Amino acid sequence: MIEKNAISNLCQKAVEMRSKSYAPYSDFLVGSAVLTEDGEIFTGCNIENSAFGPSICAERTAIAKAVSEGHKNLAAIAIAGGKRDGDLQYCAPCGVCRQVMREFCKPSFKVYLARSADDYKEFTLGDLLPESFGPDNLS
Ligand code: THU
Repeated sequence: MIEKNAISNLCQKAVEMRSKSYAPYSDFLVGSAVLTEDGEIFTGCNIENSAFGPSICAERTAIAKAVSEGHKNLAAIAIAGGKRDGDLQYCAPCGVCRQVMREFCKPSFKVYLARSADDYKEFTLGDLLPESFGPDNLS
């Protein structure tokens, strides 16, 4: 159970991370914040590339930061996305990011699509990626 204050804090950090987004090609700015099982937060933003293919989403940036610092047990992620000059959307993670979450997160992993600290929709990874392929398939 994640407390409401902790959810709001995570969503607020995702919103703030949009200011770090490098998205000159899509003008779609995304920020994210991952909460680890032991209470640490790692943030990320989308980083585009002129060759397009090497671009990375905000969610994978944050997850890579957490995992590369030794945190593989993740409890939740908040995502905040929208056009540079528009309102924030309830921005859902792309399929590639859902699969990356699947590698490190339980089906109960929480995904908050945030428009502000207190305006968000809550899903679980199980909601967003049912009948998935994961590490267990290879063991
Ligand atoms: N993007 C994300 O970072 N996360 C999402 O959940 C959806 C899409 C990025 C990728 C690209 O830089 C831009 O948003 C437009 O697709």
